[in-house]
Amino acid sequence: MPPHETSPPAPPLRRLDAADVLATLRALRQRQPVAYAAFYSSQLGGIVTDPALMVLPFDDHMVHRGHGVFDTAGLVDGRIYDLEAHLDRFVASAERSKLRVHGTRQHLRDVIVGTAAASGVHNGAIRYWLSSGPGSFELSPAAGAEPGFFVVVFGGLSYPERWYTDGLRVMTTSYPIKPPLYAITKATNYLPNVLMQMEAREHGFDNGVFVDPDGNVGEGSNMNVAFVTDDGVLRHPTFDHVLAGCTSLRLLELARALVGTVLTGVEVCPIPVAQARQAREMFLIGSSVKVAPVVAWDATTIGDGHPGPVARALRELLEDDMRQGDRLIPVPY
Ligand SMILES: Cc1ncc(COP(=O)(O)O)c(C=O)c1O
Repeated sequence: MPPHETSPPAPPLRRLDAADVLATLRALRQRQPVAYAAFYSSQLGGIVTDPALMVLPFDDHMVHRGHGVFDTAGLVDGRIYDLEAHLDRFVASAERSKLRVHGTRQHLRDVIVGTAAASGVHNGAIRYWLSSGPGSFELSPAAGAEPGFFVVVFGGLSYPERWYTDGLRVMTTSYPIKPPLYAITKATNYLPNVLMQMEAREHGFDNGVFVDPDGNVGEGSNMNVAFVTDDGVLRHPTFDHVLAGCTSLRLLELARALVGTVLTGVEVCPIPVAQARQAREMFLIGSSVKVAPVVAWDATTIGDGHPGPVARALRELLEDDMRQGDRLIPVPY
């Protein structure tokens, strides 16, 4: 007999009032290990610090159509790192997505800095979204929909220490890379990225790598990929088919200081996979992961199978820049 025929009758569906909903959301957040310190919502018109109140209308276009963009900037010792670069990308992604920016760029910056201040968090991440707003289940935004701007401050993503000490192992994903227009736009359509990371973990790898239809290296799930050739050149894929990572762009500048010591040059060019597998070093780069050495890619051992000196030197340059560079905005706590 099918199981549903033997199950006890389901309890009648409850009708909930506002107090019930709030209590349930609070209980949900207590069961989850979330540490979201502050949330700004243009729809609420301010900042909340109770995670139960960090909510969006279910018919927001960003929720049911993925019609939204986002970005993440790091908070380091009470200062926001490289916010202008992240805002450039956010605004460019919004324009490509036909999203109306909520207020001026100065307003976006002020809200981000103000939410960071309200959070009290000194080390973590600030993630912000722009949505076309609620009002219908149509494909185009609802008539008269107000764009929504949301900011959350949290502890940031973290990765196992062994990624840095021992290096990580990646696999070529079986999922197709996004077409260039979508890959360069940081929209809330991360299904390929989610699936490739899950696939890699299911196969015992730490992360995946997208390869483009011409057989060139693309990027990781939420990170860029770069290499050091056998003759010491730092080589990064071009940014026309992958996200222009703020960390990669900054590191490509900073890396020039290493030419003459651990590097012989810096190049941004298409990188065929077969050539990339011959690299002396390979690493993943991003705001959250910083620079993490890759020691194995599918069945290929990269270099001597150990983290190399360029990965270490680049990570040091980046950490220095995040602590004492000229791209820091102090948060007025
Ligand atoms: C798909 C993808 N590629 C690369 C990156 C690295 O970008 P960033 O250095 O700005 O964190 C990210 C993270 O935002 C990403 O989501």
